[in-house]
Amino acid sequence: MDHTDMGINTSGGACGTCGGLTYVISRQGDRAQARICDCSVRCSVCEGRGHMLVEREETFSKKVGARKYEVLVPCACTLRTRRVARYNEVGLPGVVAHASFENYRSAKPEQDRARSVAMHFAHQFDKKGPNTGFILSGPVGTGKTHLLAATLAHLVLEVGMVARYVEISLLYATIRRGFQEGKSGGEIIGPLSEVEVLAIDELGKGRGSPFEMETLDELIARRYNANRTTLFATNYSLEPERKNARPTNGYHSTEDTKSALKGNELLNERVGERIYSRLCEMCTFVELPKDTPDRRRTRQEMESRTSQPTVAGRSNR
Ligand SMILES: Nc1ncnc2c1ncn2[C@@H]1O[C@H](COP(=O)(O)OP(=O)(O)OP(=O)(O)O)[C@@H](O)[C@H]1O
Ligand SMILES: [Mg+2]
Ligand SMILES: [Zn+2]
Ligand SMILES: [Zn+2]
Repeated sequence: MDHTDMGINTSGGACGTCGGLTYVISRQGDRAQARICDCSVRCSVCEGRGHMLVEREETFSKKVGARKYEVLVPCACTLRTRRVARYNEVGLPGVVAHASFENYRSAKPEQDRARSVAMHFAHQFDKKGPNTGFILSGPVGTGKTHLLAATLAHLVLEVGMVARYVEISLLYATIRRGFQEGKSGGEIIGPLSEVEVLAIDELGKGRGSPFEMETLDELIARRYNANRTTLFATNYSLEPERKNARPTNGYHSTEDTKSALKGNELLNERVGERIYSRLCEMCTFVELPKDTPDRRRTRQEMESRTSQPTVAGRSNR
């Protein structure tokens, strides 16, 4: 178990900057980046050597009896350095650098569920796998990307996994650019289909062109076939039964029903049945109700109501 290795703060006592985590995540331009906290830069366990001698005792033969010997083992600080470097490869956006499970707020019971599904997934993650992922569906500004970011940070920095975050339209754009440079779609998708944990944000977004659908199909099918863990967030609804929900009183025309469903599009209609069917097996579904408050708006309203703007104005982020 090396889940807690990173939590060892060798300077003793809780650090005011990292709270004992030994690393800090902050926004650097458009990216979330981690660094080792000042309290842990100089490792007091190995004094910067990166390894240390530990005493082992073992009985090799009954005749000789137990023998003590020393072995050189890598220090926890090398693990820390490696994980911080890996975090910086995840590709999480800077706007959610502050995101954690602790600072996620629920305005709806479904948000409590979203948080606990994500937290349970992160804390119970089995390195030997397979692990069932999750998909968060909900309106804008409800903390879906926030929870993806908190989950990936835990998996990479505390569990030691390799992970990637992709926003779907940026992925399509990257592949298109790759095509122009003479690369094949598979070449670009390859690393993403093989990474241990992948988070795909904004699922269902895009033009739904054959190129986009084929790309997504290939990526998800490859991950599904290899039993790899994938997390998703989407603005589209997950409830397929809503599609069949027809008014029962007979007073509504088909047109009424159609317009009522507008802006309420279903994910399976966006990504197609092949992909949706695989998602059902790969993920726990969490749907946030349509009236879940948009945190971007409520925060702005709260800030504009505060007559005296202070630095702490954004401290709820
Ligand atoms: N429930 C929440 N608790 C704490 N912070 C939140 C919550 N929801 C959103 N935020 C904050 O609001 C901002 C926007 O949230 P986020 O990007 O996670 O929303 P989203 O659900 O992914 O929206 P979109 O559908 O537009 O992508 C972020 O700074 C995030 O940390
Ligand atoms: Mg988002
Ligand atoms: Zn610190
Ligand atoms: Zn060390």
